[in-house]
Amino acid sequence: MLKGKHLIDPQDFSVEELDEIFDLAEEIIKKPEDFTNVCDGKLLGTLFFEPSTRTRLSFESAMLRLGGKVVGFSEPNSSSVAKGENLPDTIRTVAAYTDIIAMRHPKEGAPRYGSQYSDVPLINAGDGGHQHPTQTLTDLLTIRVAKGKMTDLTIGLCGDLKFGRTVHSLIKAMSRYENVKFILISPNELKTPKYIKAEILDRKSLDYVEVEKLEDVIEQLDILYMTRVQKERFFNEADYIRLKDSYILDNAKLKTAKDDLTILHPLPRVNEISMEIDSDPRAWYFKQTKYGMFVRMALIAKLLGVR
Ligand code: CP
Repeated sequence: MLKGKHLIDPQDFSVEELDEIFDLAEEIIKKPEDFTNVCDGKLLGTLFFEPSTRTRLSFESAMLRLGGKVVGFSEPNSSSVAKGENLPDTIRTVAAYTDIIAMRHPKEGAPRYGSQYSDVPLINAGDGGHQHPTQTLTDLLTIRVAKGKMTDLTIGLCGDLKFGRTVHSLIKAMSRYENVKFILISPNELKTPKYIKAEILDRKSLDYVEVEKLEDVIEQLDILYMTRVQKERFFNEADYIRLKDSYILDNAKLKTAKDDLTILHPLPRVNEISMEIDSDPRAWYFKQTKYGMFVRMALIAKLLGVR
């Protein structure tokens, strides 16, 4: 039963609950006209303490397409946060006005802390370099549609695996499916955090390798999940500049890739996928952004218990 739950971490929901969300998202994709009024009278609060295009606008589009309404801020300086209001008071206030909240925050753990003060469902829309569970719902739905399965896959995660919260969430989520092999492709300084390896990959004895060169492994991959180097998480600009173009996927690099490779990227893209790839049928990242709206429609409907 998903009604009334918070979503803070990708593992807050069971695999069966995730399937319920994906089944509903696929129903919405097939017949969106059947869902235009299911959230009549409901209000979504969007609290974005950090910039966003896809997550905020897909949440807002999702609620509007379900017949609900949206209030919120995209910039904390336009709210009483700028006067020093603390997070619990902000959350209590918005929970009093709305039926469901989506919140992005630069501090890791802020959504979990905030959820303790919310008596309406609170959804983590990304917290620092930690987790981004609704991006993971988006990624999993895209994999389910592209591959027709979630098992027996080799997935390459490439780029900034240290700060990229979407990668941390996706590893957690994919670790629950049978026979998934992870190939972690990053510069030495941007490797997957030790806690993810220890708590997820090692603890579950999953099949994974860490490599530096994409060209060495690309032919093995069923899914290639590219990520940008997260400029906003670096302490030192010189390090960012040195590492930012570590990987640039182009036609030459794709030469040895499988014909049915699925290329994903949470976006925004900076320079890590050449625009020449965009018309390749293996590029799924713009379809992925659209699935992000449909899966958030399904999530909102489930957490509100309107379906
Ligand atoms: N994928 C993602 O989180 O994009 P935004 O930062 O634009 O929301």
